[in-house]
Amino acid sequence: MQAGDLEPPEPQAVSAPLTRAAIFLMVSVDAGAEQTAKDLLADLAGLQRAVGFRDASAGLTCVAGISSAAWDRIYGGPRPAELHELPVFSGEKHTSVLTAEADLLFHLRAERLDLCFELESLIMDRLRGSVKVLDEVQGFRYFDARDVLGFVDGTENPTGGGVRQAVLVDDDEPFDRGSYVVVQKYLHDMPAWNALSTEQQELVIGRRKLSDVELSDDEKPSDSHIALNVITDDEGNELDILRDNMPFGRPGHDEFGTYFIGYTKSPAVIEKMLENMFVGSPPGNYDRILDFSTPHTGALFYVPTADFLEDPPDAPPEPEPSAAATPAGTSLNIGSLRRSIR
Ligand code: HEM
Repeated sequence: MQAGDLEPPEPQAVSAPLTRAAIFLMVSVDAGAEQTAKDLLADLAGLQRAVGFRDASAGLTCVAGISSAAWDRIYGGPRPAELHELPVFSGEKHTSVLTAEADLLFHLRAERLDLCFELESLIMDRLRGSVKVLDEVQGFRYFDARDVLGFVDGTENPTGGGVRQAVLVDDDEPFDRGSYVVVQKYLHDMPAWNALSTEQQELVIGRRKLSDVELSDDEKPSDSHIALNVITDDEGNELDILRDNMPFGRPGHDEFGTYFIGYTKSPAVIEKMLENMFVGSPPGNYDRILDFSTPHTGALFYVPTADFLEDPPDAPPEPEPSAAATPAGTSLNIGSLRRSIR
């Protein structure tokens, strides 16, 4: 917070509700085009207002994230303490993916896909010729908020005050009230999944398919998706993340996917979940969902506050030594959360 400011900086619309439509756009910024990217990011809120005001009830939002490598190029100066490249998680059977070139993420949400499309068009009008598009996915809300595997997705998301508690950084001035976001694009092996009985699928996920009720501890296998994704701190408190997963696909091309997107105050929480899923807990006891779901992208971004994006501080004349080269997991500046996650 700047001296004299009355209000704390406003977060981007990280905690916006799940919508009917979303677009996920991931780009790399060409060398020499950093200022173009910075200018677009500063104008993003204005572009969003220009499109969204025409139907305020559709709730158009756009959240932008900046990767570790891009941070130094675009902003320079001090860095968010836990911003680093997403590690690759490699187990006996499954390995996650790192989209190393990913510099910027745009997460557009609205009740109407046309509004997301329009805003994305305006963003690309500004960035065309300055970026390489690495991935672009249009997601849709499936009935009952189910994923394409047929299970309701998002049930155990935090609600109310728990959302901000889970997603807003609170111990890293001047980066407080920002967030971290991890994305992974998964494609599903539907023939293999559909070859399972409903009861077998329920053991993979850890919940009933029709009613969405969680299996009892006796019924729930230790390699179910739910069992491996409940993370606690030293005191046994559950550490929540905010997931805004969206189904996507093109049945005519045999493409059935889930776009995973998780917001968190500390990437250590999501990284622990990914370690549990891919390596297993204990190692070898990996998430059965991966036998039917393959990641094709993966990246971590810091989501600055809206105030930071709109009016970023001037970069210092001499850039400080980059922390981007610090190997993931060995950064000295990690908050207490990382140490206390089980
Ligand atoms: C829960 C689907 C990837 C973290 C769930 C649920 C479903 C689901 C159906 C149960 C309902 C709910 O609480 O939302 C999927 C699919 C994925 C995927 C289809 C992609 C193939 C991930 C990833 C992570 C993750 C990559 C974390 C890195 C969680 C968490 C829960 C959850 C934290 C809630 C656990 C609880 O508190 O009960 N997921 N998920 N999921 N998933 Fe995923």
